[in-house]
Order: sequence, then structure tokens, then C-alpha cells
Amino acid sequence: MAKTVVGPMEFLPETLQALAHPGLLLVSLDGRRRPNAMTIGWGSVGIYWGLPMFVVPVRKSRYTYGCIEKTGDFTVNALPRKLADLAAFCGTVSGRDHDKLAEAQLTAAPSLRVKSPIIEDCLIHYECKVVHANDLAPKTLPHRLVRPMDPRGDYHRFFFGEIVAVRAETNLRRRL
Ligand SMILES: Cc1cc2nc3c(=O)[nH]c(=O)nc-3n(C[C@H](O)[C@H](O)[C@H](O)COP(=O)(O)O)c2cc1C
Repeated sequence: MAKTVVGPMEFLPETLQALAHPGLLLVSLDGRRRPNAMTIGWGSVGIYWGLPMFVVPVRKSRYTYGCIEKTGDFTVNALPRKLADLAAFCGTVSGRDHDKLAEAQLTAAPSLRVKSPIIEDCLIHYECKVVHANDLAPKTLPHRLVRPMDPRGDYHRFFFGEIVAVRAETNLRRRL
């Protein structure tokens, strides 16, 4: 797939639409430098410290959590509609006991600026370097937002990733 470098906010509506459904693929490297993809349905893109930032919430129980903690970077990738079912797959099995990319027949490709790879089969790729992390403060969470995992202490850590490169498929608007 031909890819072009684009601005960090150029495909924001498309990215947020994909975040809401089917979810985006958050890719990191594990200790053996094996890429792993997990689905996220929460997240935000904005400006912090005057820099473009992708903020991703990752529960401590996720394999991805330790991967990002160690490597300090990640990529966020938007699936094409025809591969949308893979968001459910990458969001229900863990990289601890599955090679998700191999099982889903997804291809990792080198990023331009970070160690974690992009997923070649996806349409938009954000390359992000962690500059800050922030843990959810449970006491501030209103009761209506408490989720089943929360009472067990499995809260999110919000990784703030400076967006250092973005690429998108050249004919993107026709494919999403
Ligand atoms: C649509 C969807 C959205 C999800 N969003 C998140 C999220 O924002 N944060 C999170 O920690 N887990 C989220 N999950 C759950 C993880 O993707 C799931 O637990 C995954 O298996 C973790 O993979 P890992 O153990 O290889 O890191 C989501 C799952 C789905 C299906």
C-alpha cells in the first residue's frame, strides 16, 4: 500500500471515527522485540506542552502495558473497513499467549521515528514517543463510570505519546 507522510491532525475525524468503531490498533514491542497489537476504544489526540500528542489508556493487566513501559514508544493504526473484524480479535486475546499479528495475517513494517513498528495493512499510522504517563485516580471517578475491572484495581495508565510521524494511505478517503 502506498503511504504518504501527513500532518498530525490531518486525518483526525477519520481517526476518531475508527476509535469509536471498530477501535484502533495500539502496537508495541515486547521484551523479545516481537510486535504486539491491542485494540483501543478510548484515547485522544490533542496538544500538550505545545506538542501534538496521542493519549492512550492501557489497563495494567494488558501485556501491552509492560511493553510500552519498557520500550517507551508505540504506534496507533487504523484498520481498513474490510479488516474491521480484527479489532475484536486483537481486543480479546493477549500477546502473552498469542502471536496476534501472525494469527491475523497482519504485517509489521518499520516506523520512521520509533522502535515499535506500524501495521502495513492499516490505513493511518501514528508514531508516538512516550513523554509522560498518568494513572487514573479512582477516587475521582463517578459511580456511573466505574467498570467491572475497576474494583479489582485494574485501572488505566494514560500514556502521553508525542506524535513524531504520521503516514496515511494515499487514496485514504475512498477506503475508510
Ligand atoms: C473495541 C475494544 C476496545 C478496547 N479498548 C481498550 C482500551 O482503550 N484500553 C484497554 O486497556 N483495553 C482495551 N480493550 C481490551 C484490550 O484490547 C484487550 O484486553 C487485549 O486483549 C489486550 O491485549 P494484550 O494483552 O496483548 O495487550 C479493548 C477491547 C476492544 C474489543
